[in-house]
Amino acid sequence: MSKITLTIDQQQVTVSPDATVLEACEELGIKIPTLCYHKALPAYGACRLCLVEAELGGRTRVQASCTLAVSEGLVIRTDTERVLKTRRVMAELLLARCPDSDRVREVAGEIGVTDTRFEKKNEDCILCGLCTRVCSMLMGSGAIDFSGRGDTRRVTPAYDRHSEICMACGACEQICPANAVHVEE
Ligand code: FES
Repeated sequence: MSKITLTIDQQQVTVSPDATVLEACEELGIKIPTLCYHKALPAYGACRLCLVEAELGGRTRVQASCTLAVSEGLVIRTDTERVLKTRRVMAELLLARCPDSDRVREVAGEIGVTDTRFEKKNEDCILCGLCTRVCSMLMGSGAIDFSGRGDTRRVTPAYDRHSEICMACGACEQICPANAVHVEE
């Protein structure tokens, strides 16, 4: 399979065609903030902290690097004012949702965000989908999933009752970056 060459922050990098821009950035040692990403799972693009500017065919867009596939001639910028400002807004939104989460505070702090101008919701769950993905894709269980939309969106077992197919393996609890999952045995 032929490799793909793209440019990131004025440096060329050649990677596998199935790599993402986030992985290409890692190849160059460029640190991108992430919260909903885990190497062992398909990317979900929920937190939007990994945004970069992508230019191809004369169009420039701000996109999540964890879900953006590499392509020949793609030009990526990871540190423009537009990128940094948009990441900070995303961090503020996450802080508003989960102001007490150590991990959210840590990642936000790394990009200079220590407070939020948005209304605080005091939720535990950041809706990153890591728990649902590890349950269905790595453990093969599918005991939990998202339900609801908008403000009522949350992660629940089927029918909101203890699930018979839950193996109490604890993978969801282990992977949760917000420490919001507590498995009952
Ligand atoms: Fe890419 Fe969360 S790490 S959207």
